[in-house]
Amino acid sequence: MVKVLMVCLGNICRSPMAEAVLLHKIEQAGLSEQIAVDSAGTGSWHIGEAAHKSTRSQLAKVGINYIGCARQLRAADFREFDYILAMDAQNLRDIQYLQPEATTATIKLFLDYAPTSPVREVPDPYYTGEYEHVYNLIEPAAEGLLQAIRAEHRL
Ligand code: 4NP
Repeated sequence: MVKVLMVCLGNICRSPMAEAVLLHKIEQAGLSEQIAVDSAGTGSWHIGEAAHKSTRSQLAKVGINYIGCARQLRAADFREFDYILAMDAQNLRDIQYLQPEATTATIKLFLDYAPTSPVREVPDPYYTGEYEHVYNLIEPAAEGLLQAIRAEHRL
């Protein structure tokens, strides 16, 4: 099983959206037995909460239902996951700060998988309300990531 962890600050806006979009693509590709996806936040404020209603409504607009609840990034994630993907550069620094020396996980910015994206970071929509913009950045990155995983793991 290839395991992917999407990470943002609160785990209620961006990383649940990235998780849900990638899961949807995995289901459509018939690869649910081969690739698993989860998400986490670097912060602890929203532990146990459902995804933000605007994340859920943006997902619903494209026919995706999301039922996860927020959790915080933990040390065991570095052993469990093959890909740990940060929504922005601060998330990446926070992940690297917690990263044990021996980890073999691929730790990168999520938008590295969207080479034609005009930006490298997924901006935080919590204060701006730009959930559709966030979706439009996430969608091609999820596609690029799925293709990269299929190529790397021969799926
Ligand atoms: P997220 O957005 O990192 O995309 O889940 C945020 C959600 C909540 C907060 C910050 C960012 N907050 O400060 O509570």
